[in-house]
Amino acid sequence: MDETVDLPYPQYRCATCGRELPLTEARLTVTCGDHRPAREDADVSVRPATPADRHDIEDICDQALGETEVDVFGRTFDVLAAENLVAVAEERFAGLISLAGDGGDLGIVLLSVYPGFQGKGVGSALVEAAVSRAAGRGLPAVKVAVSNDDVPSFSFYQRHGFVIDSVARGVLADRYGSAEPGFSGIPVRDEIRLRRPVAPR
Ligand SMILES: CC(C)(COP(=O)(O)OP(=O)(O)OC[C@H]1O[C@@H](n2cnc3c(N)ncnc32)[C@H](O)[C@@H]1OP(=O)(O)O)[C@@H](O)C(=O)NCCC(=O)NCCS
Repeated sequence: MDETVDLPYPQYRCATCGRELPLTEARLTVTCGDHRPAREDADVSVRPATPADRHDIEDICDQALGETEVDVFGRTFDVLAAENLVAVAEERFAGLISLAGDGGDLGIVLLSVYPGFQGKGVGSALVEAAVSRAAGRGLPAVKVAVSNDDVPSFSFYQRHGFVIDSVARGVLADRYGSAEPGFSGIPVRDEIRLRRPVAPR
């Protein structure tokens, strides 16, 4: 397996030393609740993006994906044309959730939290804001897709009530022409699609 590929961009940080990591360098550890790295939730606010956020949105897309277009659910979405919610913590742009309707559900096109703000409740605040929007609009569910290697995101969404809906096997390997190493060096092959039913309000 080639672990020297210069992609993707740093998306995770070491919970012990804080260093931002390329995906392939990340490794999992399992801890008990008492010994997991200290975690302090940030004071997070979530608001709709404004035109003034464009540069920050392009920047976080660049770090997460290298572009603002996202291929997911069998379609291509442009984050800049989607409904974007911004998380602000410590008076800084900490994360983004990008939403678009898909098949009657509210789809999460992109969720990304800057490594320095991960593990502080920012991603949770963004997901709950999306669920609240879906409920307010009477939509039946929020859906999302993770790549098979992205174990932290897969864990994160299941802990937030998402369940596997389908697996698009091989779609990512086909798109990139081969199964490139992703999180922890796991070959990136499949798109795992998850859904969280939303109680109407
Ligand atoms: C997955 C992600 C959205 C979670 O956001 P977050 O702000 O770190 O999540 P929160 O702090 O609200 O929740 C942390 C929980 O999620 C899990 N988690 C997932 N990723 C984590 C991370 N990088 N650091 C700490 N916890 C993480 C933890 O297990 C934790 O669960 P716990 O409360 O049971 O301990 C975020 O880590 C992220 O953006 N990762 C990069 C994803 C990415 O860019 N992918 C490519 C483009 S789609």
